[in-house]
Amino acid sequence: MREPVIAVVYNIPRSKDNPFAQSSLDVLNQVEEVENSLAVRGLEVQRIAFTRDCETFLREIRRRGISVIVNLCETVDEDSRFAGHPAALFELLGIPFTGSPSFAITNSTDKATAKLLLKGAGVSTPGYVFYDGIRPFRGEALSYPVIVKPCYEDASNGIDQDAVCRDERAVLDCLEERYSLFGPLLVEEFIDGREFNVSLLGYPRPEVLPLAEIDFSGLPSDLHSIVGYRAKWDSESVEYRCTNRIFPKLPTAVAGELRRVALESFTLFGLRDYGRVDIRMDTAGRIFVLEVNANPGIASDAGFAAAAAQSGVTHVEMIEKLVHCACERAINNDQETC
Ligand SMILES: Nc1ncnc2c1ncn2[C@@H]1O[C@H](COP(=O)(O)OP(=O)(O)O)[C@@H](O)[C@H]1O
Ligand SMILES: [Mg+2]
Repeated sequence: MREPVIAVVYNIPRSKDNPFAQSSLDVLNQVEEVENSLAVRGLEVQRIAFTRDCETFLREIRRRGISVIVNLCETVDEDSRFAGHPAALFELLGIPFTGSPSFAITNSTDKATAKLLLKGAGVSTPGYVFYDGIRPFRGEALSYPVIVKPCYEDASNGIDQDAVCRDERAVLDCLEERYSLFGPLLVEEFIDGREFNVSLLGYPRPEVLPLAEIDFSGLPSDLHSIVGYRAKWDSESVEYRCTNRIFPKLPTAVAGELRRVALESFTLFGLRDYGRVDIRMDTAGRIFVLEVNANPGIASDAGFAAAAAQSGVTHVEMIEKLVHCACERAINNDQETC
């Protein structure tokens, strides 16, 4: 077998003066960490940015003889609706790449499609109304409070304390402004209770990693218990300091149910190699899937790496494992790419 020629392919993040620069710039940390981790294993990695300029990209891929891709693309030119497009191109080129296939990235990135899939498969998820900016918002069937979320964003972009609305009037007051900023929105019933992040890793069968919970207990009582943008990205904020990740000891039945629902969601969306399912549990103990993340961030300080570490897999091993998953596929397809 020839040595693989590995590229880490990533999107160009938003500029520093963008309000969501912090979440977007994280991709550059991930690129660096992938390079450093694989260097530890004696593997060289080449950086290639993915933009709408596909001709340049193709030229670079061919010129450098790339045979395996670590896919870190979260957007194309800042547009998250194109999150799956780089993977689609790799599929057409027949180059093995880490993570989910294009359709899985596309379906899970679009929160409206994701809700339809979850509902259609009978996976419990909060009730919601989709607001497309054309048809008037009809919120009478919802139980309040609700949370207003951009359909095509992730990383809690556009989710803050004001996103939680106590009644229909409050929704109507913020809908147009949020639509003008983010486009289509989900208005979703707010699940008051605990929050779990369930990470999965492995190909062809993923293993469920230790179950993480967000500990909201230190959060001031006037704040909603959510992991909004500040909680994820603003290390100076009270939300960031008071939303810590823990790995709790859970009753067997609860842990079993979280694992089952996460695995079912992973399979339903056709995720591959790794993923993270965000789940809330209400005060009655009922479980609701909030969203399914294909290719979650793999930075060493993010939830996925923390869950891997909790299972005894170091950051270097985790990244190596992802590359190995892609190589496995190449070998099994009998391609001589790695
Ligand atoms: N229906 C909901 N009920 C309660 N909290 C929610 C709900 N939807 C989202 N949140 C809060 O907002 C955070 C981000 O929402 P999520 O749907 O996971 O979007 P993103 O793709 O931005 O991570 C969640 O981690 C959770 O804390
Ligand atoms: Mg989430």
